[in-house]
This record gives sequence, structure tokens and C-alpha cells, in this order.
Amino acid sequence: MKERGERFVMLTAYDHPTATVLDAAGVPMLLVGDSVGDNVLGYDSTVPVTLDEMLHHTAAVVRGAARAVVVADLPFGTYQVSVDEGLHAGIRLMKEGGANAIKAEGAGPVVEFARRAVAMGMPFMGHLGLTPQSVNQLGYRVQGRDDQAAERLVADARALEEAGALSVVLEAVPAELARRVTEALSIPTIGIGAGPHTDGQVLVLHDLLGLNTRPTPRFAKHYVDLRAAMLDAVKTFQAEVADGDFPGPEHSY
Ligand code: KIV
Repeated sequence: MKERGERFVMLTAYDHPTATVLDAAGVPMLLVGDSVGDNVLGYDSTVPVTLDEMLHHTAAVVRGAARAVVVADLPFGTYQVSVDEGLHAGIRLMKEGGANAIKAEGAGPVVEFARRAVAMGMPFMGHLGLTPQSVNQLGYRVQGRDDQAAERLVADARALEEAGALSVVLEAVPAELARRVTEALSIPTIGIGAGPHTDGQVLVLHDLLGLNTRPTPRFAKHYVDLRAAMLDAVKTFQAEVADGDFPGPEHSY
């Protein structure tokens, strides 16, 4: 798609019914993000998410994805200690979870991890800019604003490409920096809060659907207010039961 100049989307998915909807919509890539932590599991960040939780959600998404490529996040703590631990975790996400590819955040030692993962048959997606697993160091702030940080980000993206990464997510970076990275790489960039010049765009599905309880980041757009629709449906059900309108004869045996 990058070669053809076609912009594409990736969306997060955490469960089977959602995966079937996204697959039917023709979304080419589903990300079982560790954002499952703050969007589904009630954690206040992605940091507490465990490998077992990622396996559970990845397997459900894979069962619902007939054609989309499924990428699974390696959660915090699984690849920071050593490349070998990261490889074990990646193998579990692919073998037990059924993921087609794995994603990890950052560069530096992660570049070597990416190289080894790819050499061992694990397609690898990078993630640069705001890396939420480092929230305790970075906060949720736009990254790459000064020249030095921008140069480092371009170099990190190049290093990930050279290590064999299939794509790089760019989160919360200035649009012009995302353009530079996109032009510098032959692999696709996928932006979130990175402006319009990346090859693809990713959003957290719960932001797009208006389904989360936490504040929506500025870069996300609500395409529908599903939380309001759910509230309405549940209140109507309660009222119909209270009034004796449900169940009707058509719902009874
Ligand atoms: O976990 C996630 O949802 C992500 C996206 C923000 C890219 O990594």
C-alpha cells in the first residue's frame, strides 16, 4: 500500500465480536494493543498489563479475524530485561495467541531485539515517539519537539527498519517530523497523533467509538457516541421490564 501511495488504517481490537466487525469492514491490520489495560481492564496505564492478559485477548481477536493481519503488543516487563525473555514472550504471542506479528516500544536495545525476532521468524512492528509503557519517565507528552530529539527519532526509525521491522508506529510527534520519518523509510509508518503525512493511521477503537471513560486525547476523533447509545439501550431495557413491556409474547416460549 505504501508503494501504491494508498493510505491505510490499523485499529485496536481486544475481543472476538469487535474483531469480526473490523475484519468485515476491511481493516487490514488489527492491533491487540496493551492499551487493553486502560481501555478494557480498568488500569490507569498500560504498565500493569501482563503477558497472560495479552495472550487471552490476542487469541480472541485472532479467532475473529478471517483476513486481517493481527499484531500483538509485548507488554511492559516482557522484553526490557533481556532479548531472550522478549523472544520467549513473542513466541508465546504467536504460538498460543496466534498473532501474525509482535510490537514493542522504543529503540536502543529494542533494535537488537527486533533484529533477533525477525531473524527467528517473528514479524516485528516498532513504536517510537510517545511510548506509553514509559509513562513514568515521559508522561503523556508530545515527543521529538527539539532538533536533537527529532534527529534521534529519525535515526531510531532508520535503525528499526535496518533491523527488519515491518512498520513503525509514530505516536504523538509533530506532523513535520512524522513526514520526515515517513520519507526516510521504505517501510510504512503508522501515525497516532502524528499528523496527516504517515502512510497509515491507527486509533484506539474505544476512542473512535466514544466508548471510554477516561479523557480522550486531542488526536483522537469520536466517530460515534457508543457510550451514550449503550446507556440509552440499557435504560430502555430497565424501563420496559419495570413497565411489564419486556418480555413480550414474541420473546416467550
Ligand atoms: O496499545 C496501543 O493501543 C498502541 C497504539 C496507541 C498504537 O500501541
